[in-house]
Amino acid sequence: MSTLLATDLKGKTAIVTGGATGIGKAIATALAAHGVRIIIADLNGEAARQAASSLGKDAQSFALDVSKRADVERTFAQIEGTLGGYDLLIANAGVSTMNRAIDLTDEEWDFNFAVNIKGVFLTNQAAVRYFLREKKKGVIVNTASLAAKVGAPLLAHYSASKFAVLGWTQALAREVAAQGIRVNAVCPGFVRTSMQEREVAWEAKLRGLTPDQVIKEYVAQTPLGRLEEPEDIAGLAVFLCSDAARFMTGQGINVTGGVYMG
Ligand SMILES: NC(=O)c1ccc[n+]([C@@H]2O[C@H](COP(=O)([O-])OP(=O)(O)OC[C@H]3O[C@@H](n4cnc5c(N)ncnc54)[C@H](O)[C@@H]3O)[C@@H](O)[C@H]2O)c1
Repeated sequence: MSTLLATDLKGKTAIVTGGATGIGKAIATALAAHGVRIIIADLNGEAARQAASSLGKDAQSFALDVSKRADVERTFAQIEGTLGGYDLLIANAGVSTMNRAIDLTDEEWDFNFAVNIKGVFLTNQAAVRYFLREKKKGVIVNTASLAAKVGAPLLAHYSASKFAVLGWTQALAREVAAQGIRVNAVCPGFVRTSMQEREVAWEAKLRGLTPDQVIKEYVAQTPLGRLEEPEDIAGLAVFLCSDAARFMTGQGINVTGGVYMG
């Protein structure tokens, strides 16, 4: 990212969950370009290590499962205790599976909810406790989805978990605003990542289409006329972290190329 949006971010530290790849990595890269020290926390420890090493010598990584309270509390305490703490949390880790609502299993439901909303709950709670105790300020950006605004077919369980992310974001934002903590969410659309690759293959199979036909449908629904790139979300995340967004909290902002305009 060449344009500096927010000079006040220089010298801050951000934890980016699910930052080893895709949208999280793009956000981490953009924040690093604004002088933010990055701590990548991802289930895939080796990919997290590689992503961090591409972001300069100050960047760090942790293997972390955001759906496990003990794991989150231990890792966040370690970051507070030995790495000088943090100022920003990007709660971005997420998963999806695809199935018709009538065929969904308990396992699919629980997996999507464990990572997508329990992971946001646990990481946001750890950060807010720390911000209240040590900083008296802080910024959280959660990754929700287009599917948090409109029900997505074949993704009913995922959609429900992402609607929950926005409910949580709004409620938490109201609770902690007076203490100097802002909580917002980004809502990406059809983003070209490994998650999308998996979804395109599943959707093609479930609907009897080719992967190419599925992608053409995504693009046809997008007024700006192409698939979204992870970097398309990064500028918004940087903005939300910065003082330029100092009067914004409890928002779920769409970055979808116009797929959803509400
Ligand atoms: N790709 C899209 O079209 C799209 C659209 C809207 C929202 N999103 C959301 O954006 C976020 C990032 O998605 P992406 O497309 O970059 O996906 P991705 O699969 O490319 O990357 C997700 C990252 O999260 C990590 N992760 C998975 N489970 C984890 C866990 N339990 N604990 C910690 N890390 C975990 C993975 O290892 C991976 O590095 C997710 O929350 C996703 O739901 C994606």
